[in-house]
Amino acid sequence: MNENQRLESTQVKPADKKSEKDYSKYFQSVYQPPSLKDAKKRGKEQVNYLKEFSIPEDMKNAGKGKRFLIRTYGCQMNEHDTEVMAGIFMEMGYEPTENTEDADIILLNTCAIRENAENKVFGEIGHLKPLKLENPNLLIGVCGCMSQEESVVNKILEKHQFIDMIFGTHNIHRLPHIVKEAMFSKEMVVEVWSKEGDIIENLPKVRKGNIKGWVNIMYGCDKFCTYCIVPYTRGKERSRRPEDIIEEVRHLARQGYKEITLLGQNVNAYGKDFTDIKYGLGDLMDELRKIDIPRIRFTTSHPRDFDDHLIEVLAKGGNLMEHIHLPVQSGSSQVLKLMSRKYTRESYLELVRKMKEQIPNASFTTDIIVGFPNETDEQFEETLSLYREVEFDSAYTFIYSPREGTPAAKMEDNISMEVKKERLQRLNALVNEISAKKNLAYQDQIVEVLVEGESKNNPDVLAGYTSKNKLVNFKGPKSAIGKIVKVKITQAKTWSLDGEMIEEAVEVN
Ligand code: SAH
Ligand code: SF4
Ligand code: F3S
Repeated sequence: MNENQRLESTQVKPADKKSEKDYSKYFQSVYQPPSLKDAKKRGKEQVNYLKEFSIPEDMKNAGKGKRFLIRTYGCQMNEHDTEVMAGIFMEMGYEPTENTEDADIILLNTCAIRENAENKVFGEIGHLKPLKLENPNLLIGVCGCMSQEESVVNKILEKHQFIDMIFGTHNIHRLPHIVKEAMFSKEMVVEVWSKEGDIIENLPKVRKGNIKGWVNIMYGCDKFCTYCIVPYTRGKERSRRPEDIIEEVRHLARQGYKEITLLGQNVNAYGKDFTDIKYGLGDLMDELRKIDIPRIRFTTSHPRDFDDHLIEVLAKGGNLMEHIHLPVQSGSSQVLKLMSRKYTRESYLELVRKMKEQIPNASFTTDIIVGFPNETDEQFEETLSLYREVEFDSAYTFIYSPREGTPAAKMEDNISMEVKKERLQRLNALVNEISAKKNLAYQDQIVEVLVEGESKNNPDVLAGYTSKNKLVNFKGPKSAIGKIVKVKITQAKTWSLDGEMIEEAVEVN
């Protein structure tokens, strides 16, 4: 099959199904499912760079008088994809709604990272069925990382035939076409490209809020950590051109945004795919820091690609925030090897030491997986000791979840779930202990907080984050929302700080 054929979407007719056997025969003849095997291929196909995006004429008013709702699961990348899809819907004339009953079109933007993420989505699909039965004109779509998995698409085709469309992470810009097909067809529209992925500029975006904004700097992942599904669902590592990123950040600065977060699964590999220029994340940050925007962050860093130039640039400070999220996954070199993380306990600790030396104020957070196949007690203890040694400010901790199609899922595992849960509890107790200890150092200190709005639990209290990404709840006037203010910390808690506003801060730059 050539690329053009793959680019055609396929309409599957579950209604034609007579028996499971006939169905699977029919299915194999007309339907090209997403393929994790194809998704694994790297470097042979050209990544297309498209400078412009536009809505086809006949879809420009397709959403007039209609409403859309997108439920988002997973990481910031997915959150940002939702902003793009919302932008496309708005350009088609749709209005947003928060209420499933009012919606004419509902999308589930899904995450495949762990089994429980997928279970949540299947639960939601079940909840949506009565709505569809009540209102047959309602269109329901499944997109995001789960759509890239063959097993998921097959399960939806077989068990949830009321779903109108399934499309993948490489097909977001095709949304108007997919919606059109779904509107005019009684069949399920499936469009999932298992390819390396393209770069498409100038997609419309409706951002959530006007204080903090996300900016993709690269897509995909080539690291293939043995436990992880992302390289299969997001395609090859491909970087946006620096000029496009710089322009987007300038635009956000002009619009009054106070903080931007550069996004990528492995931002430290930024630029490695350029063939015409030698340009990395350090170079990009060095240019972005000159833009008049108070705060710049980035996520996620891979320890392997974190180079000296980037450390040098981050050490310049200014609007480059002194918080580094550096997932370690395990403190055992043997486990790291099985995970194919391509660094050791020692080289990770050396990197952190170097960063702490050159950026003395930096705070560190991390991601950790416990219960990787056959992880021994000693290996788990090494994770605890590494955590103590680095003294992370906080961590996202997970029990290993086998993902179909990944190498780790084929490994035999002699560790029981009970032991894994116990380890997670022990790790979380340590994470809390150190977080509380680190927060205590803020008692009576004055910090700068970018005020995002009212606190979730109490509308009389404002909330925001420090440059080191500490959540601060404090009393202050509503007029402070969207500004950077000075807050005196009155009480340090395990996960957040309480305080009182002193004054508006003078912005850097
Ligand atoms: N690209 C980022 C992480 C993306 S996924 C990085 O490499 O740092 C976010 C986190 O989910 C990972 O850091 C890892 O800790 C966790 N994760 C990924 N796959 C997992 C799996 N199969 N089971 C449990 N946790 C997993
Ligand atoms: Fe997954 Fe590893 Fe890529 Fe992160 S770097 S997205 S953990 S494969
Ligand atoms: Fe999930 Fe996909 Fe992000 S698997 S974590 S939504 S890249």
